[in-house]
Order: sequence, then structure tokens, then C-alpha cells
Amino acid sequence: MSRYAAFVLFLALGIEIHVSHGIEVLVNDKDGKLCLYANLMVNFSVSYEVTGNKNETVEIELPSGAKNDESACDATSSTLKLNFGDGHSWSMNFAVKGNTYQADSITFSYNLNDSTVFPNSVLNETASVTMKPHITDVGLDTCYSCKSKDMIQSDSVNQTLWNVLIQAFVSNGSKSDNLTTCAADVPATTIAPTAAPTPTTTPTTTTAVPVTNSTSPAPPPTTTPTPTLPSPTTGKYSIKPDENSTACLLADFGLRIGFKQGDKYQEMNLDPNGTVASGSCGVNSSELVLVSNSMTIMFTFANDTKKFRLHALNVTAKPSSGVVFSEVNSNLSLWEAAVGSSYMCNKEQNYTITNLLTIFTFDLQVQPFGVKKGVFSTAEECFLDSDLSFLVPIAVGVALSFLIILVLISYLIGRRKSRTGYQSV
Ligand SMILES: *[C@@H]1O[C@H](CO)[C@@H](O)[C@H](O)[C@H]1NC(C)=O
Ligand SMILES: *[C@@H]1O[C@H](CO)[C@@H](O)[C@H](O)[C@H]1NC(C)=O
Ligand SMILES: *[C@@H]1O[C@H](CO)[C@@H](O)[C@H](O)[C@H]1NC(C)=O
Ligand SMILES: *[C@@H]1O[C@H](CO)[C@@H](O)[C@H](O)[C@H]1NC(C)=O
Ligand SMILES: *[C@@H]1O[C@H](CO)[C@@H](O)[C@H](O)[C@H]1NC(C)=O
Ligand SMILES: *[C@@H]1O[C@H](CO)[C@@H](O)[C@H](O)[C@H]1NC(C)=O
Ligand SMILES: *[C@@H]1O[C@H](CO)[C@@H](O)[C@H](O)[C@H]1NC(C)=O
Ligand SMILES: *[C@@H]1O[C@H](CO)[C@@H](O)[C@H](O)[C@H]1NC(C)=O
Ligand SMILES: *[C@@H]1O[C@H](CO)[C@@H](O)[C@H](O)[C@H]1NC(C)=O
Ligand SMILES: *[C@@H]1O[C@H](CO)[C@@H](O)[C@H](O)[C@H]1NC(C)=O
Ligand SMILES: *[C@@H]1O[C@H](CO)[C@@H](O)[C@H](O)[C@H]1NC(C)=O
Ligand SMILES: *[C@@H]1O[C@H](CO)[C@@H](O)[C@H](O)[C@H]1NC(C)=O
Repeated sequence: MSRYAAFVLFLALGIEIHVSHGIEVLVNDKDGKLCLYANLMVNFSVSYEVTGNKNETVEIELPSGAKNDESACDATSSTLKLNFGDGHSWSMNFAVKGNTYQADSITFSYNLNDSTVFPNSVLNETASVTMKPHITDVGLDTCYSCKSKDMIQSDSVNQTLWNVLIQAFVSNGSKSDNLTTCAADVPATTIAPTAAPTPTTTPTTTTAVPVTNSTSPAPPPTTTPTPTLPSPTTGKYSIKPDENSTACLLADFGLRIGFKQGDKYQEMNLDPNGTVASGSCGVNSSELVLVSNSMTIMFTFANDTKKFRLHALNVTAKPSSGVVFSEVNSNLSLWEAAVGSSYMCNKEQNYTITNLLTIFTFDLQVQPFGVKKGVFSTAEECFLDSDLSFLVPIAVGVALSFLIILVLISYLIGRRKSRTGYQSV
């Protein structure tokens, strides 16, 4: 009897070990050397429309048998892509940022035509959501480790990641033993209150501010050796139509302004701590006003039926010199995306607002219209984030060759014309 019980226990443990193992992925570069390592567990909760105008929610697990044939690495960006089941896929993009790396986006595509997973689905297509992971400031040559559960929400898909161990940009072919641990895994007592500036007003989920293993000399993300300003902290701002509603406007970004007063150019970061957000949501126009003790910034977004854009920007700054600076441009077309989706740009961007004012954004995601359930809808990524940015040099090359051919043709035609000219004389 006890032997039987032990066998059952062993079996149960065996299953338990299998289940908690998750999926392990090894991606090799073109020389056959390890360039990306991942071991993680992911669950999805997907809400979809079924017959009878109702919604059904299903739980899906990323299976350990998912295929990673489409993963790829290069020196500064890499993609982990896992295909599974009948046309479903999950991918994560990584990018190097100074002496750290981060995950820029997660895209989950699910085939609603797969009736074993989505029974009675009304739609017959592959849906796709792009979300922003909380994996930032991971030291190069370290593994990102997060055992805690991290839920990332969007309007129709919630995904939960846990037991995550990832190293992107593996150097010399072997996984590092040094870890960058997420804040959620670090016992609360060891976090110095000022060490982890959390810009969130209410940190509900595990907004992972990674803490680099203090015994390792891995590059600390806060101490940039350059004399320029450090990257601004990412702020999370939201506007509610009234106190009892969920948000109708969402904006996450780190912001820096650069401006000229006379001959002097200076830059200032917006500190989300102490910044008060206000504004309004409308049908044709929404407004976000951010007031800190050193600057006031007013963003006006326009809804042009199908697309929205940042239409006007009014920046007033009080630099330490005491002379107030103010510039307005009411004729902008920035941050464009379809109404009902959000605009996202993780890469550092600069925008010339007027000839005296430039703004710089970091980890940007905005949605000024059509926010549902208080969370960002599917993101439309900026060009620089997308995998297509490699096309730029190709396009330039094609344009140049085209120009050369054009010059050659006009030269030949010219020669011919001048020759016939001589003959007619
Ligand atoms: C996602 O999570 C939120 C909060 O827990 C919940 O209200 C919502 O129904 C979930 N959505 C899905 C698709 O599971
Ligand atoms: C993940 O999904 C599996 C199967 O749907 C479920 O048994 C498990 O409890 C889920 N885990 C979490 C953390 O949601
Ligand atoms: C769903 O797609 C299949 C082929 O992929 C097609 O034969 C079928 O008619 C479609 N059903 C609907 C309701 O669109
Ligand atoms: C915000 O600023 C106040 C006062 O400057 C400080 O006491 C507080 O710790 C800061 N909070 C964060 C999260 O940095
Ligand atoms: C930090 O790294 C050292 C080896 O470099 C390791 O012994 C130690 O366990 C690590 N600590 C944490 C908290 O990961
Ligand atoms: C890990 O950190 C130690 C110093 O604590 C360093 O000597 C070692 O080279 C690092 N290992 C890797 C793989 O980066
Ligand atoms: C919000 O709800 C509270 C109680 O539920 C109510 O007293 C208050 O009037 C509501 N406010 C608005 C703006 O609807
Ligand atoms: C955007 O504008 C169009 C036309 O003015 C309107 O029908 C639509 O409801 C607006 N969208 C939102 C989310 O306000
Ligand atoms: C929004 O714009 C449309 C057309 O541009 C106009 O018909 C409508 O009255 C406007 N709505 C509001 C609330 O201003
Ligand atoms: C810009 O903002 C400043 C301060 O908030 C305000 O005084 C000024 O009138 C605004 N300018 C425009 C054109 O809205
Ligand atoms: C706004 O910008 C457009 C194109 O960028 C330009 O044609 C138009 O003249 C500008 N209007 C004003 C008032 O500056
Ligand atoms: C603005 O961005 C461009 C490329 O996007 C870059 O070449 C330029 O140096 C940037 N300017 C500043 C002031 O950072």
C-alpha cells in the first residue's frame, strides 16, 4: 500500500516537475553559436466572440513543444518567435540599449479558426495583439530572471509570464551565470526606498524594475558615464472622464525637452514623480496636460475619423535661469495610429516641434481615444521599432541605382537627339 502511495507521489511529482519546467529555447546564430537563451512559462487568457453575441474566455498555455524556427539574432536586435498549435504564435523582440538590453514588444497571434481552442468563434481569422513587456535595463551578458508572475493586460488578451530566465545577446556562445533579477523577486526589505524609483502612481502589477546582482560588476543602468542627462524615468499618465470610470486616455513615456534661449541650448527631463496629469477626452479631440514644478506640457490629440495624431503641443518651461520659455505648435502630425489602437515607440525618438524646441521620447505608448477597460489596445509600432527598418538602406540603394539608370538613359537620348540634329542640318 505504502509502495503504491509512493508511486503515486512519484508520478505526481514527475508531472509537477514536467509542468513547472516550461519551455526551453536555444537560438543559434548563423555560425551555430548560442545567441539567445530562454526558459519561461506563459499563459494566455483570451476573450473572443461566440455565436449569440456573447464573449467566451479561454486559458491557453504556451506548450513546451512550440517551434522556434523563425527566431533570429543579430548584434543589436533579436527575436524569439515560437509557433504552436494550429497557426498560433508568440514572439518577443529584444534590443540593445547602451550597456543594457530590453524587450521592446511581445506579439501574440491566435488563429480563431482553430475550433479546438476557440469553439464557436464568430470570427474566422488570425488576431494579433502587441503588448509591452516589463523587461528593461537588463545588463548585457546577464540573464534576466523573474520567478514571480507578471501579468500584461490588453483589451482581449491577458498574458502571464513566470519562471522566466532569458538571455538575449549571448556573447561567446555560452549563457551567463550572472543574473539581473526583477524587482518582484527581490525581498521587499532589500530594496532601498530610493533605489527603485517607481513612476507608477499605483503599482498594481509587477512593474519589474530589475535589480542587478549587487555582487557582479554588471553595468548599473542608472550611472551613465556620459556627461549628458540620464534617460528620463518613464511616467504612466491617465485621464478619467469622471471619478467612477476607467481611464479614457492613457500615456506612458519618458520625456525630455531640448530648447534654445538666445544662444544657449539646454535639456530638461520631466520627472514623473510630482507631475500632475489632467485633461479631457472628447470625440474629435482629447487633451493631456502635465504639470511639474519645472514645466507645463499640453498635448492635444485629434481624431480624424479613422486615425488619431498628436495635433498640438504647448510647452512652457522654467529653467534654473528663471527666464520662462514657451513654444507652441498647433499643426503637428505625430504619433499617428488607427482610432481604437494605441501608438507605441520604444526606441528613443526626437521630434522638432519648432526651431527652438525639440522633444525626446523614451518607451512611448499613447492612446487618446477609444480606451476600453482602462488598458491599452493593440499597439501600432513606430517604423524604427518594426522589423522593416532594415529596408531603409536597401531603399536608398535602389533609389540611387534608379537615378544612375535615369541619368544614363537621358544621356543616351541626348546623344541621339544631337546626332539627328546634325543630320537634318
Ligand atoms: C484580464 O484581467 C483583468 C483584471 O484581472 C480582467 O478584468 C479581465 O477580464 C481579463 N481579461 C481577459 C481576456 O481575461
Ligand atoms: C496556466 O494554464 C494552465 C492550463 O490552462 C492552468 O492549469 C494553470 O493553472 C495556469 N497557470 C497560471 C499561473 O495561470
Ligand atoms: C472560414 O474559413 C474557411 C477557410 O479558411 C472557409 O471555408 C469558411 O467559409 C470560413 N467561414 C466563415 C464563416 O467565414
Ligand atoms: C517622490 O518625491 C518625493 C519628494 O521629493 C520623495 O519623498 C519620494 O520618495 C519620491 N518618490 C519616488 C517613488 O521616487
Ligand atoms: C550574484 O552572483 C554571484 C556570482 O557572480 C552568485 O554567487 C550569487 O548567488 C548571485 N546573487 C543573486 C541574488 O543572484
Ligand atoms: C560574472 O561576474 C563576475 C564578477 O562578479 C565576473 O568575473 C564574471 O566574468 C561574470 N561572468 C559572466 C559570464 O559574465
Ligand atoms: C461616484 O460614485 C459615488 C458613490 O458610488 C457617488 O456618490 C458619486 O456621485 C459618483 N460620482 C460621479 C461623478 O458619478
Ligand atoms: C472619431 O471621430 C469619428 C468622426 O468624427 C467618430 O465617429 C468616432 O466615434 C470618434 N472616435 C472616438 C473613439 O471618439
Ligand atoms: C466632430 O467632427 C465632426 C465632423 O468633423 C462633426 O460633425 C461633429 O459635430 C464633431 N463632434 C463634436 C463633438 O465636436
Ligand atoms: C500655452 O500654455 C501656456 C501655459 O500653460 C498658456 O499661458 C498659453 O496661453 C498656451 N498657449 C496656447 C497657444 O495655448
Ligand atoms: C500646417 O502644415 C501643413 C503641412 O505640413 C501646411 O501645408 C500648412 O500650411 C500648415 N499650416 C499652418 C497654419 O502652419
Ligand atoms: C535625432 O534623431 C536622429 C535619428 O533619428 C539622430 O540622427 C539625431 O542625432 C537625433 N538628434 C539629437 C539631438 O539627438
